[in-house]
Amino acid sequence: MDSSNQPIDFERLWEIVSRQFQCGAHSDHGPSHWRRVERNGLLLVEHSGADLIVVRLFALFHDSKRENEFTDPDHGKRGAAYARELRGGCFQVSDEQFELLDFACTWHTDLAHHRDPTIGTCWDADRLDLGRVGINPDPAYMNTQLGLELAGGGLRFRGDHEPT
Ligand SMILES: [Fe+2]
Ligand SMILES: [Fe+2]
Repeated sequence: MDSSNQPIDFERLWEIVSRQFQCGAHSDHGPSHWRRVERNGLLLVEHSGADLIVVRLFALFHDSKRENEFTDPDHGKRGAAYARELRGGCFQVSDEQFELLDFACTWHTDLAHHRDPTIGTCWDADRLDLGRVGINPDPAYMNTQLGLELAGGGLRFRGDHEPT
């Protein structure tokens, strides 16, 4: 049997990942942000056709290895490496799903657009929470139709994203 079909115990996984987070419970990049990213993702997934499991895992891991609140350019890469560490023991996904998760975490601060709906949904879900740090989400950085609308970009959808 393909072990990637086993359901993920997200509650347990959240406990494990939250416990190791270094910036404290009130961090702008901590668990309360991850929860909002997850909630945004759940909303976007309904329209974007993204892989829900990958989007939920992205919410949990993408900022999980932040070491400070200001400049930490490698935190996405470390978040992806941490997910790789826990994969197999704490959660199961297919290789295809892990590849998407790895890419979305690694590049979430360096790249703006991606054609893959799961990666685009992950990034939009994160960016829609920029209000927490006093930044309005910018429609120019959105990948999904709903993300664009929620960021105030109206109904026009940029279908000509550069491949990234
Ligand atoms: Fe981040
Ligand atoms: Fe984030």
